[in-house]
Amino acid sequence: MKWSDNMLVGFKPMDDEHIAFVEMIERMQNATAEELPPLLDQFSDVAHAHFESENKMMEETQFPPRQCHIDEHMAVLKSVAEVQELLVQGQLTIGASLVDELAKWFPGHVTHLDSALSHWMCKKQLGGKPVVIKRSLNLQHDK
Ligand SMILES: [Fe+2]
Ligand SMILES: [Fe+2]
Repeated sequence: MKWSDNMLVGFKPMDDEHIAFVEMIERMQNATAEELPPLLDQFSDVAHAHFESENKMMEETQFPPRQCHIDEHMAVLKSVAEVQELLVQGQLTIGASLVDELAKWFPGHVTHLDSALSHWMCKKQLGGKPVVIKRSLNLQHDK
């Protein structure tokens, strides 16, 4: 998995953490089965901290649809914890499946749930929707 500006949501504290999140997933994808368990422990810390910061923003600002977003974070942490446990028991192959699932899940989560939270936070802080500049845009210039 590589970071793409298509995943930018326009609220910097979230974008910075998402870039680190994707980097962790990429490192896990490139790890051997033996290298994976300590990386997954590190990822678990990163994920806990990131989800906690989003959950806190949603609670503090009383973001109306927060419950389904918070539930999704919880479900992911639960799967991570279950796989950590299986890795401890020596079932090393399950690690790679989890990493695949995380890589598939994350872009959709960003598009559907995190971007809505970003709009809400920008509106709260600045009174407008975020303007997201994506480097991949191919801009046409008039001559
Ligand atoms: Fe997020
Ligand atoms: Fe989220």
